[in-house]
Amino acid sequence: MNRVYIKTYGCQMNVRDSEAVAVMLRGRGYRITEKEEEADIVLLNTCSVRDQAEQKAIGKGGYLSRRKRANPRFILGIMGCMAQNRGAELFDRLPDLDLVVGTQRFHHVPDYLDRLTAERAPGAPRPSTILDLEEEEGSQDTIRGHDEDTRRVSAFVSIMQGCNMSCAFCIVPKTRGSERSRSIEEITAEVEELVAGGTREVTLLGQIVTSYGRGVIPPLDGKSAFVQLIERLHDIPGLARIRFTSPHPRGFNRDLAEAYGYLPKLCPYVHLPLQSGSDRMLKAMNRPYSRQKYLEIVESLRAVTPGMYFSTDIIVGFPGETEDDFAQTRSLFEEVGYDMAYIFKYSIRSGTPAAGLPDQIPDEVKEERNQVLLKLLSESSRRRNQSLLHSEQEVLVEGPARKGNLYHGRTPGNRVVLFPASERLVGELVPVRVNRVTVSSLYGELALAGVDAAVG
Ligand code: 5AD
Repeated sequence: MNRVYIKTYGCQMNVRDSEAVAVMLRGRGYRITEKEEEADIVLLNTCSVRDQAEQKAIGKGGYLSRRKRANPRFILGIMGCMAQNRGAELFDRLPDLDLVVGTQRFHHVPDYLDRLTAERAPGAPRPSTILDLEEEEGSQDTIRGHDEDTRRVSAFVSIMQGCNMSCAFCIVPKTRGSERSRSIEEITAEVEELVAGGTREVTLLGQIVTSYGRGVIPPLDGKSAFVQLIERLHDIPGLARIRFTSPHPRGFNRDLAEAYGYLPKLCPYVHLPLQSGSDRMLKAMNRPYSRQKYLEIVESLRAVTPGMYFSTDIIVGFPGETEDDFAQTRSLFEEVGYDMAYIFKYSIRSGTPAAGLPDQIPDEVKEERNQVLLKLLSESSRRRNQSLLHSEQEVLVEGPARKGNLYHGRTPGNRVVLFPASERLVGELVPVRVNRVTVSSLYGELALAGVDAAVG
C-alpha cells in the first residue's frame, strides 16, 4: 500500500521539485511508480501560471477521487503552486482530497504521507486531512536529492526560488514567495555529486536566475553573484555543459553576456523572456525594460557569440493590447528570429494587478495573435535547422529515442538530434553529421569513423 505516482504540471522547477520529493519518499520506503493506475497514493504537483493549468489539475483530481470509492485507503495530494495559490479552497473543490502542500514545504511530504497512511489503516479513527502552506526559511536548500536509479546525463539544479518583481500578469511571486538563493558552496557540492554519478550537463533553475544571490553575495570584479556561480561550476572537471533558465532582461548585464566569450561550457542558448515587443505594453505589464534595451541584450550576445540561439516567452492579448502593440511584438519577434518560443494567451490570474484592468481582449483575438507568432516561430525554427543541414554538431547523447532504434541528444544550441548510436555512448559528447531536418528536430549519423564501427 505504498506505491506513489507523482504527476507534474508546468515548468522545469516543478519537474525538479517532483524529483526531489520522489527521492525523499523512496528514502522513507515508498515505491515510486510510473503507472498511475497501480498507485495507492497520487500526488499532483501543480502549476498556477494560467487558468488552464489549474483546471487541468483540478479535473485530474476529480477523476482520481473516484478511486476512493473502490479503495478507501487511496490518498490524493496536491502540491506546489496551485496548492500555495488556492490553499484550503481546494478541499471544497475536491472533497476527496487528503493533502495540500505548498511550495516551501515539499520536504514534509514523507511525514504527511506516513501520517495519512497510518490513519487509513483498518480500524483507525476517522482520517483527517492536512493543509500546509507555511513559508519556511531555508526551504530552497531542501530541494537537493537527485534520482540515482535513473542515471541522468542532464540534470536540473535549483539555485534560487521566488521572485521579487511585480509583473502585472504574474501569480508566481505569490506562489513561490520572495527571492531566496542557495549558497555557491551548496550548489557546487550538489553539481559535483551529480557529475560523480555521470551527469554531464546541468540546467540551473530559478524563477529569476539573474537575481541569484542579490543582496547576499556581493559583486566581485564587476561580476554578479550569478556569473560567479557559473564560473565556479565551470571549473568542475567532467561537467561538459551549463545551461540556465530563466533570466530577466533587467538583470542580463554585460558581465553575463561576456561570460559566453570565456566560458566554453556555457551553452549558446539563451531563454530571454520578452512578453511583449511594445513599450506601451511592457510598461502596462510592469516590465522594467524597453524594446530597444531588449534588442541591445540580443545584440550584445550575438557580438560575443554570433550563432547564439534564442528562445523567449510571449504573452498575447494582455489587457489593452492593440493591433499596433501586437505589430510591435511581431516585428521584434521577426527581428530576433527565435529558435524556440513559448507563446501564451493572457490568462486572468485573480489577485494580480492586471486582473482588474479594463479592455480584456477577446479569446478569438488572442488565438489569432497566437497563431501568427506560432507560424513565424515554425518558419524561423525551420530556417535555423536548414542552416544546420550537412553540418557537424557536437551532441551530448542522452539515451534511446522513444521511436525507432535511434538515440537522442542535443546540440549546444539545444536542438534535438536523432541518430543511430549505442548504449555505451550515453553521456558522451559525439560529433554528429546532420543529414535531414524537420521544423523541430535534426537527424544524422555519427561522424567518427571509429565510433561508427563500434556501433551495433
Ligand atoms: N497569462 C499568460 N501567460 C502568463 N505567464 C505568466 N503569467 C501569465 C498569465 N497570467 C507566462 C509568461 C511567463 C511564463 C512562465 O508564463 O510569459 O514568462
